Amino acid sequence: MVVAIYPGTFDPLTLGHEDIIKRGLYIFDLLIIGITINNKKKSLFSLEERIFIAKEALNYYSNIEIISFKGLLKDFMSNNNIKIILRGLRNSLDFNYEFQMANLNNYMNKNIDTVFMTSTNKNQLISSSIVKEIAILGGDISKFVSSSVEKHIFTKINNIDNKKVKYI
Ligand code: COA
Repeated sequence: MVVAIYPGTFDPLTLGHEDIIKRGLYIFDLLIIGITINNKKKSLFSLEERIFIAKEALNYYSNIEIISFKGLLKDFMSNNNIKIILRGLRNSLDFNYEFQMANLNNYMNKNIDTVFMTSTNKNQLISSSIVKEIAILGGDISKFVSSSVEKHIFTKINNIDNKKVKYI
């Protein structure tokens, strides 16, 4: 059984992430969606909310598990006997960042390797921040996130007075 982890912040899950997950499942028997806190970023949704949103959006896949992890990815992987990281590449900026992360993870644990999938054309423009920005400014995000995710974004935004969104 070939198992991989697709780690990320997923604040929230977009159709770009779903594209990588769907195609990743053609390669891997089990895909662990590992949702974590990235201290360099302020999140709109709490970790628990991001897990709930991803579970709801991905509930029709049987061979995925959605979990959260804290600390170093390589430690979570060795504790759970996972050896492959799946990541998406949208452009050359992603490549530079991902190249460093993949090499560092492998340097810290030689049993860990990263597999990259290039994003399909229409998903190369998406990022979670851009989707949130468009939504906050009243734009249409239906091309970028699934309908359940769209609902959660607008509920969150509309619950906040004067659209002053509080990032966690
Ligand atoms: N389609 C659309 N958007 C995508 C995408 C895709 N295929 N792949 C990534 N993105 C977007 C995300 O939405 C996110 O956008 P945002 O910055 O606007 O929120 C951005 O690209 C970054 O991607 P994401 O997948 O969220 O990764 P991240 O950079 O937040 O997280 C981790 C990277 C979690 C994998 C990394 O920080 C990690 O491993 N952390 C654990 C601690 C650790 O081990 N650190 C040492 C690493 S060597």
